[in-house]
Formats: sequence, C-alpha cells, structure tokens
Amino acid sequence: MNKIDVLLGLQWGDEGKGKIVDVLTPGYDVVARFQGGPNAGHTLEFEGVKHVLHIIPSGIFHQEKVNLIGNGVLIEPHIFQQEIEGIEAKGIDPTRNLLISLKAHLILPSHRMMDAANEQAKGASKIGSTLKGIGPTYTDKIARNGLRVGDILAADFDQRYDALKQAHLRAARSLGFDVDAFRIDGMTLAQYEEKWNEGLQCLRRFNLVSSEYYVNRVLRENRRILAEGAQAMMLDIDFGTYPFVTSSNTITAGVCTGLGVAPSAIGKVMGITKAYCTRVGAGPFPTELFDETGSLLCSLGHEYGATTGRPRRCGWIDIPALRYACMINGVTELYVTKPDVMNDFEYINMCTGYRIDGAVTDEIPYNYNTAAITPILATYPGWKQGLAGITHYEELPNQLLAFLSAIEQQTGVSIAAVSISPDRKDVIFKSSTSMQ
Ligand code: IMP
Repeated sequence: MNKIDVLLGLQWGDEGKGKIVDVLTPGYDVVARFQGGPNAGHTLEFEGVKHVLHIIPSGIFHQEKVNLIGNGVLIEPHIFQQEIEGIEAKGIDPTRNLLISLKAHLILPSHRMMDAANEQAKGASKIGSTLKGIGPTYTDKIARNGLRVGDILAADFDQRYDALKQAHLRAARSLGFDVDAFRIDGMTLAQYEEKWNEGLQCLRRFNLVSSEYYVNRVLRENRRILAEGAQAMMLDIDFGTYPFVTSSNTITAGVCTGLGVAPSAIGKVMGITKAYCTRVGAGPFPTELFDETGSLLCSLGHEYGATTGRPRRCGWIDIPALRYACMINGVTELYVTKPDVMNDFEYINMCTGYRIDGAVTDEIPYNYNTAAITPILATYPGWKQGLAGITHYEELPNQLLAFLSAIEQQTGVSIAAVSISPDRKDVIFKSSTSMQ
C-alpha cells in the first residue's frame, strides 16, 4: 500500500504552494485538497500566464491527473462555478478529472454574511478574515448544523437551506448587523442567492464521491496521491497564532481528517517556506519590517493577496516559527521560494530566536500575540546578482547557498528544491532524485 505525500505551507500562507504542487504533479496520479476553501488563492504561472485557483486542486491543468476536493474542504458554489468557467475558458474540461467529496461542507451566502457580522462585532480586534464564510461554515460543521455537498441531492435540501439561513439572519441581527445593507460583490443576499443556486447546478455536473473510499483504494492500488494544503501552519486552528488563524487544521494531521487516511498512511511531508516571511490580516509577526526593506519585499515580491488583493505584511525569515512548523508537521523536506526577490539586497537577516522580557528563547510562547518579542537576527551577505538562467543547485551564488544551508542547519531538515522565479521551470532541485 502506498503512502500519501503531503505538501503544506510553513509560515502564514502564500509561500508558493500552488506552484510547487504544479511542478510535483507529474510524479502523482491524484492531487487532493484536504481543508480550507475559497479563502485560499493558489497562483500558478506558466507560459507567461497567471492562473489563480481557490478551491480546485492545483493539478487541474494536468488533464490526465485526478484532482480531488476532500471532505475537509469548504465549497462556495458560486465561486466554484466561476473557477470552473475560468478553467474551461483555457480549453480544459474539469468534469473529466475533478472529483468532489459528498461530505465536503457548503458555504452559504448567509455564512458569508455571518463572517462580516462577526468581524464587525469584533471591532478593533477583528481577525482580518478573507470574508469568504470560512469561520461560520466550520462553526456550523462542528455544531452539527452544516449542509454538505451530498445534501444537494436530497429532496428536502431547500427547507434545510432556508432553516440554516434563517438562523444566520437571526444571529446577525442579534449582533446589531444591518442585514439589508449587506452586499456580496455588490449584490444583496437575495441577488447573490440566485448566483449561488446556479453554482449548485454547476456542482451537480461533477462526480460527487465517497472520497475516503476513493483515496484508500488509490493507495491500495499503489498509485500516488499528493495532499495539497491551503493557508499554512501558523494559521492552524490549534497551533497557529490563535485567534488570528483560519478555522481548520492546516497541518499534516488535517490530511487524516480531511481525506480519511490513517496517520500511518502519511508519507513524505514537504514544507514550503519563503526565503523571507509574509502575513495577510491581523496577528503577531515578530520579524515584520516597517521600513523601506519591508516595502521593497512587498513591491519586488508582488506581495498582494491572490484572493483579496490586500498588501501583505513583510519581514525576515523566522526560524523559531519554521522549526515549530517542522516539528508539528513532521516535515521531511523543505522547498524554499522567492530568494530572487532579494537579489539586490546588500544583506539578508534571519531571525534565529526571540528575546522576551530579557530572556532568550527559540520556542513559540503561549502568549505570542501579546508578548513584546524582539527578534534576534543573524545577518548574511547578499548575493547581489540575478538568478535567471541558473539550472543547477550548485550554480547558485555562494552567499545564497550559505543562507540556504543555514536554514537547513537551523531547522534540521534538508532542502529539496529552491524556486527562483514565478515560472514552474525555475524550481531547482538539489539532486535529480529529490523529485521522487
Ligand atoms: P479566514 O480563513 O478567511 O477566516 O481568514 C483568517 C485569517 O487567515 C486571516 O488573517 C486571513 O488573512 C488568513 N488567511 C486565510 N486564507 C489565507 C491564505 O490562503 N493565505 C494567507 N492568509 C490567509
């Protein structure tokens, strides 16, 4: 029986997971998403064209691969339909290679309203949610009120939909939220519901499956599955910077619950990290830069949210957070993205520990959100040259190799590959064997 390989982000998201999945996909038969929903934005770029995916796994552009949306994922039918239409416009027929779990939960328009109502009620302490309805939908899942993809085939779906929507309207009003003024993409709730219902029709065209049986059968048949994470370790509901997190388990353990595989079936765990660090939304970020270097990372790295367009906060790479991520996820190999953004930097910093109340630690403290953390920085000389045209790891500039090797030493995990441009051809593996 094969094991399932896992790929996930080790920081606060946007590490370039979609692109690495796209590069690794040729080695797999199935690419599966196990958590999150349209809050994710996975950007792929090939032949000079950008493709942003939100719910659909990043293997969709490989027509011979099966792509699976697992039970742990949330689907918003209108966003799903838009994404499908975008893929179809590129000449790909996703009904041929996309499977959807009957157990995946549905994001209702009123879940999106509840997201806005909850954020408004939090005032200054708001999370900075993407407002796609993620928190309220997972809340209903755990509270056992949710609607699942399989329910759209049931005769009483409309009644159940209405009951849940009415509960949301009552809850939003009780928070003092102006339900009538609420808009999604400029539409009232009723107008958006029409689009959402069209999205349901689109969803019905797809192969809706008991994905846990499918996944285990594929592994038994010794075919290969890549589980693709969304968001990232530091946004995990249990181990992230709570409450400034998303509402799912973004970690390796989430693969077990989000796809229905046993812990013993987990194979390689590939962790993606930028050579620096970014974060969207509120919450702690000890290495954040508020100076010109931070602005440079943002502009040179095109650090604007793929889903919301918000500028990302930028800072130096954070080793205590990375080491924590490697520990929680059992990372077996690292992928480092975007060192090229710093090609012209005189020097590059790496945070190797935190000073908190005069004491030095390399652990993530419980009070991460409120502690006054001063990052302890190690400085590395910049490589001051472009990386275009480099095709072998050993050809990377010595200064960059030294920086990469420090990441390996600090985390205790080897680097499998480094990505030096947005294009998928520019992922440089350390050795030819690393890809398998
Ligand atoms: P939510 O998941 O939309 O509720 O957002 C919760 C927090 O996670 C916010 O700070 C978001 O900015 C962040 N977040 C959610 N999805 C992503 C993502 O795909 N990349 C980066 N940050 C994300």
